[in-house]
Amino acid sequence: MSAVSKNEQSGFTVAIDGPAAAGKGTISRAVAAHFGFAHLDTGLLYRAVGAMGGDPVAAARRLSPEDLARPDLRSAEAGQAASKVAVIPEVRAALVDFQRSFARRMGGAVLDGRDIGTVICPEADVKLFVTASPEVRAARRLKELRDSGFATDFATVLADVRARDARDAGRATAPMVMAEGAVLLDTSAMAIDEAVAAAIAAVAARR
Ligand code: DC
Repeated sequence: MSAVSKNEQSGFTVAIDGPAAAGKGTISRAVAAHFGFAHLDTGLLYRAVGAMGGDPVAAARRLSPEDLARPDLRSAEAGQAASKVAVIPEVRAALVDFQRSFARRMGGAVLDGRDIGTVICPEADVKLFVTASPEVRAARRLKELRDSGFATDFATVLADVRARDARDAGRATAPMVMAEGAVLLDTSAMAIDEAVAAAIAAVAARR
């Protein structure tokens, strides 16, 4: 995907990483809305590459913004497919420039994913690592999936969460790990509005 031109760049960057279903998406959207920043859900890039089929490296190289609008990208299958293509170093490399360019856009940006604070934007102004226990995350993801009309059960979703954690944290290239200098936000015992408030406070403290 084409990058933002150099003269549009210079903003404030918030990097939000963490495992699947920890609340990153909700928190990132709320932080972006609160501060008027743009938001990029980088998981969508990997989900789109996984959903395109064929050679994942070629898919990552020809990815366009329209590919991110596919309606099937939120399913559990798309999440697993994303986690599998995300292991491939050439897939990750093909997506770096777009993410870095987005991160530096004027007006500020929030990016959420697994390697934003470690690899994509190690120089981010604020880094958060949002997590929660696997059971809490599975329960939240189950509700989300059911609300979106996907039929599934707790045991299946918990197994999916654990499999993705193992693959995302265990891969050799850009594994999911808390970045140096990141603020840890464990949302296991938090309501979502408390987690959002804590994230906004962490960003406000560094502005
Ligand atoms: O955040 P998500 O659940 O939509 O991400 C789907 C998968 O994509 C995740 O299991 C691993 C991969 N991913 C990644 O490797 N790096 C990122 N920055 C974002 C997602």
